[in-house]
Amino acid sequence: MTDQPRAVHLADYQPYTHRVEHVALTFRLAPRATRVLAALRLSPNPGRPGRHDLRLDGEQLRLIAVRIEGREVAARVDATGMTIPAEMLPEGGFTLETEVEIAPEGNTALEGLYMSRGMYCTQCEAEGFRKITYYPDRPDVMAPFRVRIEADLPVLLSNGNPLGQGPGWAEWEDPWPKPAYLFALVAGDLVAHSADFTTASGRAVALNIWVRAGDQDRCAYAMDSLIRSMRWDEEVYGREYDLDVFNIVAVDDFNMGAMENKGLNIFNSKYVLASPETATDDDFARIEAIIAHEYFHNWTGNRITCRDWFQLCLKEGLTVFRDQQFSGDMRSHAVKRIEDVLMLRARQFREDGGPLAHPVRPDSYVEINNFYTATIYEKGAEVIGMLKRLVGEEGYARALDLYFTRHDGEAATIEDWLRVFEDATGRDLAQFKRWYTEAGTPRVKVWEEWDGESYTLTFEQENPATPGQPEKGAKVIPIAVGLLNPNGDEVLPTTVLELTQDRQSFRFPAAARPVPSILRGFSAPVVLERDVSPEERAFLLAHDTDPFNKWEAGRALAKDLLARMVTEGAAPGPDWLDAIARVTFDEGLDPAFRALALRLPGEDDMASTLHAGGITPDPARIWAERRRMGEALARRLGPQLPGLIEALAEPGPFTPDARAAGRRALRIAALALLARVDGGRAARAAHAAADNMTEEVGALIALLEVGAGQEELVAFEARWGRDRNVMDKWFALQIAHAHPDQAVAVTEALTRHPDFDWKNPNRFRSVIGALSANHAGFHHGSGAGYRLVADWLLRLDPLNPQTAARMSTAFETWPRYDADRQGMVQAELARMAAAPGLSRDLGEMVARMRG
Ligand code: PHE
Ligand code: ZN
Repeated sequence: MTDQPRAVHLADYQPYTHRVEHVALTFRLAPRATRVLAALRLSPNPGRPGRHDLRLDGEQLRLIAVRIEGREVAARVDATGMTIPAEMLPEGGFTLETEVEIAPEGNTALEGLYMSRGMYCTQCEAEGFRKITYYPDRPDVMAPFRVRIEADLPVLLSNGNPLGQGPGWAEWEDPWPKPAYLFALVAGDLVAHSADFTTASGRAVALNIWVRAGDQDRCAYAMDSLIRSMRWDEEVYGREYDLDVFNIVAVDDFNMGAMENKGLNIFNSKYVLASPETATDDDFARIEAIIAHEYFHNWTGNRITCRDWFQLCLKEGLTVFRDQQFSGDMRSHAVKRIEDVLMLRARQFREDGGPLAHPVRPDSYVEINNFYTATIYEKGAEVIGMLKRLVGEEGYARALDLYFTRHDGEAATIEDWLRVFEDATGRDLAQFKRWYTEAGTPRVKVWEEWDGESYTLTFEQENPATPGQPEKGAKVIPIAVGLLNPNGDEVLPTTVLELTQDRQSFRFPAAARPVPSILRGFSAPVVLERDVSPEERAFLLAHDTDPFNKWEAGRALAKDLLARMVTEGAAPGPDWLDAIARVTFDEGLDPAFRALALRLPGEDDMASTLHAGGITPDPARIWAERRRMGEALARRLGPQLPGLIEALAEPGPFTPDARAAGRRALRIAALALLARVDGGRAARAAHAAADNMTEEVGALIALLEVGAGQEELVAFEARWGRDRNVMDKWFALQIAHAHPDQAVAVTEALTRHPDFDWKNPNRFRSVIGALSANHAGFHHGSGAGYRLVADWLLRLDPLNPQTAARMSTAFETWPRYDADRQGMVQAELARMAAAPGLSRDLGEMVARMRG
C-alpha cells in the first residue's frame, strides 16, 4: 500500500512566505523535450515576518538548472517540489531562475502542458502549473507575466497583449497580476475567426476564435455570444474588458467545459463549434452560456480571484449566477429558471443527498480537482440568488460595486464576499453564512390554516445530517409566496417570507380560503414537503401567475402519479392527462414552456424521491411505469399531435434564437409522443426532412425510444463519421436510449467500435457517461452496468485520473437501492479501492463513496 494521501485543511491557511513581483517565462517547444526557463523576481512577504525557506511546487519536471542572482544553487528537490533553505537566499529581493524539461506529448492527464492532435495547449487550474515549472502554485500568489514562445508553428499564443512576433517566436505580456492557474499557452496550426469590439470607454479589442482549418465556418455563434456577453457585462455590472485582445481557442482533448485563462480562454471544442447542421439547440444554448461564463470570469475570478481553493465558489458560484442571469436576459427567464432547477435537482440535490455531500465552501479536501462539483457551482449560484432576494436588486448592485472596488487585484474569501453585502446593506449575514459552511438540502414542511379571517402558513425546516456534519442549525430561507383566490385571481402578489427558525408561522388576512403558491421562482434550494391534492396542483398549473410554480405544479402532478403507478399500480387518469393536454395546446403559452411541461419526470429523480419517502426504488419498475405513463399521454394527445407538429414547422432557414428553438422543442416533444402511437411514422418522415441537427437528433431519439431507428443510425454514421463532435452524439444517444436490458451490450459493442477513442474525454463521456446516465441500464439487476463502468474507470485512471474521478460519481446514489444492488456497488468500489497505483483523484472519490 502507498501512503494515504493527506488532506488539506482550510484552517491551516497561511500566506505565502514570498511575493512574486514578476515572472518571465521562455518556452522552447518540442513534443518530447520542451524547455521551460523561468525567471521569478521574488521578495520576502511582509505578511510572513521572519526569514523563511523558499518552497516551490513542481511535479514531473526534469530539473536542468537553478540559479539565484545568476549563481547556481543546490536546491533540495523531491516529488512535489523544491526547497531552497533560507540561508541560501539573499536578503530582500532576488531573481530566481530555473530551467526544466517536460514532455507534453506523453501527457495524457491533460493537465499542465499537453498536446491535442498536433497542437500544444495548457490547462493549469487548479494545480497544473506545477507540471510546467517550479512555482508557488497557489491562487493567492499573483504576478504579472511575460512569456516568450519558440516553436516552428504559425500560431503562438499566451495571456495578455502581444509584444512582438517573428518567424518561430512570439512574445506576450500580461500586465494584470494573476495567479498561475490562469496561465495559458497555445501553439499550433490554427486559423482565426475574428471580430472587433469597442468597450464602453473606447478601448478597441481584437477578438479571435482560433480553430483548426475547416472549422472557421462554425465559429459565428460563439463570436456573437462573446460580443453580447461583453456588452452585457458593461451594461448590467459596469465591467469592461481590460486588454487589447481576447483570444479563444477550441481544443478537442479537454477534461472540462472551458477555462477562463486571462485573455486566452481555452474551450472544449464541443462548446465553441456550431452550425445548424452539426449542433442542436441545446448545444447553441450551452455555447452561449459557457462563452459568457468564461468571459465573465475576467472580473469574477481573474481580477478578483480566490485566496485558496476552499474559496472556489467565490468565483464559480458568482460566475454561474452571472451566466444564468445573462442567458435569462437573452432568452426567457421562466424557461431558463426551470432548466436550471431541473439541473440543480438532478445533479446537486443528488450529490447533497449522498456520500459525496460537501458544503459550498468545503473545509478540507484531498484532491482539489474533485471539488469542481454541482455543489460549488450550482448551489454556489443559488446561494447568491438567495442573497440577492434578501437584499433586493438595489442592495445587490451596491454590494457588487463595493466588491469590485474593494477587492480588485486581490485574492479574496467568502468572508470578504459576505462583508461587502453587510457593509453595503447593513444586514447581518452571520446566520446566512451557514449556506456556505453546511452541506445538505434543507427539507421544508408546510401546513396551512384558515379561520375565516386570516390564513396562516407554518413552515418547519429540517437540515439533514451529511458526512462529517451530523448536526446543523436553522438556515435563513427566503420563501417567495403568492396567494390566489379560488377563481384563480392573485390576491397576494409574490412576497418573500424569511424563514430563520426551525419552525415559524406567517399570517395573512383572507376572507376566503386562498390557494397558496409557495417557493415561487424556486426562491431557495430546498425540498418542499406539502400534501397537495391533484385538484390543487391542476389548479395551479392552470392559474399560477408565477411561471416556475406553474410548471412545478405540473411536474408535481406527474411525479405523484408516477410514484403511485410504481408503488400501487395506479394508472394515469384524467386529472393529469387533461391538465397536460390543456397546457400542450394552450397557444397563449411559450412553446418552450409547453415542451418543458410535457417532459416526464426523470427516472433518477423518481428513484431519489421514492427513497426520500422511505421506499426502495426498483429501477426496472420505474422505467416500465414511466414508459406506460408516456404511452397513456400519447394516446390522450395523439389525435391532436399531427396538427400541432404541422403548425410548429418553421418555414425558412434555421435560426438558433430562443423563439425558434422553443418551437422546435415542442415539435420534437410532440413527435416523440406520436411515435408511441404511430410506430414512428411521423418521426421517420421528420428525420428524412430535417435540415438541422436539432430535428435530426430529436427525430432519431423518438425512433430509438420505440425500438426503431437502426437505419437512421447507419445513415448518421455514414454522413458524420469524420466529425468528432457530431459522432459523440451518435455514440451517446444509442446508449442513453437503449432498452435497459440491452444498454450494457450496446455499450460494450460501441467500446469495440474503431472510433471509440477512449483517451479522448468527450468520447469516453459519450460512451461510459451515457451508460451511467441510462438509469435502468446502469442499475440493471445483473450488476453488469456497474461492472462495465468500473472496468473502464480503472482503465482510464492511470492515464487521466481527473476524468476518471469525475465520472465515478455514477456510483454515488448506491444507498438508495436494495441490498443486492448495494452489495454489487460496494464490491465494485472495493475492487477500485484495491487497484494497484490508484490515483489520488479516484482514490479519494471511492473512499468517500464507500463511507
Ligand atoms: N474554471 C473553469 C470554469 O468553470 C472550469 C475548469 C476547472 C476547467 C478546472 C478546467 C479545469 O470555467
Ligand atoms: Zn467557471
